[in-house]
Amino acid sequence: MKFDGKVALITGSSRGIGAETALKLAEEGADIVINYPFESEKDSAEEVVNKIIRTGRKAVMIEADVSVFQEAESLVKKAVEEFGRIDILVNNAGITRDNLLFRMKEEDWDAVINVNLKGVFNCTKAAAKYMLKQKSGKIINVSSVVGIMGNISQANYAASKAGVIGFTRSIAREFASRGITANAVAPGFIESDMTAVLSDKVKNEMLAAIPLQKFGSQRDVANLIAFLASPEADYINGQVINVDGGMVM
Ligand SMILES: NC(=O)c1ccc[n+]([C@@H]2O[C@H](COP(=O)([O-])OP(=O)(O)OC[C@H]3O[C@@H](n4cnc5c(N)ncnc54)[C@H](O)[C@@H]3O)[C@@H](O)[C@H]2O)c1
Repeated sequence: MKFDGKVALITGSSRGIGAETALKLAEEGADIVINYPFESEKDSAEEVVNKIIRTGRKAVMIEADVSVFQEAESLVKKAVEEFGRIDILVNNAGITRDNLLFRMKEEDWDAVINVNLKGVFNCTKAAAKYMLKQKSGKIINVSSVVGIMGNISQANYAASKAGVIGFTRSIAREFASRGITANAVAPGFIESDMTAVLSDKVKNEMLAAIPLQKFGSQRDVANLIAFLASPEADYINGQVINVDGGMVM
């Protein structure tokens, strides 16, 4: 299989796109490190681990808040202690704290930037140490079409996801000579807990802007991430690939 002998760490993989990506990579042969941020996510993380084990792959779960550097560092260290290496890092963990700018509190700004952007820095810095020694690795960062277009009530989220794009392109340049590629995916509207909270009005407005006239599935994003993590994408570096039904083009 495509990922035989490979180890993948997916941040924020107790549910949603992260969990689906973990399953997809496991189905194609990778051993998996599931990450969840808090005790309250432990049960869902365990469910994902059990599903992976049923595919015949190995999986472990590690609690870590990616926004805290020491926790990200210990997440990666534990992953390497468990499996001996790290081949694929998917920086997927993300949150929203939406509000119009004048109502957006400083803590909403900080929380979103800390998880969505600083979390990507933290985990990449920690994992790159091992990838550089291996002289190989695939880093896939989950951005968003909102990081490209902007969005009302999402100045914090849009800034974090645009930041992820700049970060990805920078490390893609830094690490390329060492056999490590870095790319970003930019999902459009994907059905998950994150989008379930939006009003029908917002959902209908979104739908009207999607040429394919349907929302994306978590599998749609997982398929793209798995492709970018595979040897088939060896010559793709520093790119941002949309998976959005044609919403942005
Ligand atoms: N759903 C969409 O339409 C959409 C669109 C574009 C981008 N995205 C991005 O895709 C990613 C996954 O989103 P989703 O839709 O699956 O949402 P989700 O809310 O279902 O999943 C988010 C995951 O991140 C984890 N997480 C949150 N804070 C964390 C932290 N501090 N440390 C570690 N893990 C943490 C959560 O536990 C959860 O597993 C996010 O980065 C999101 O911004 C989603």
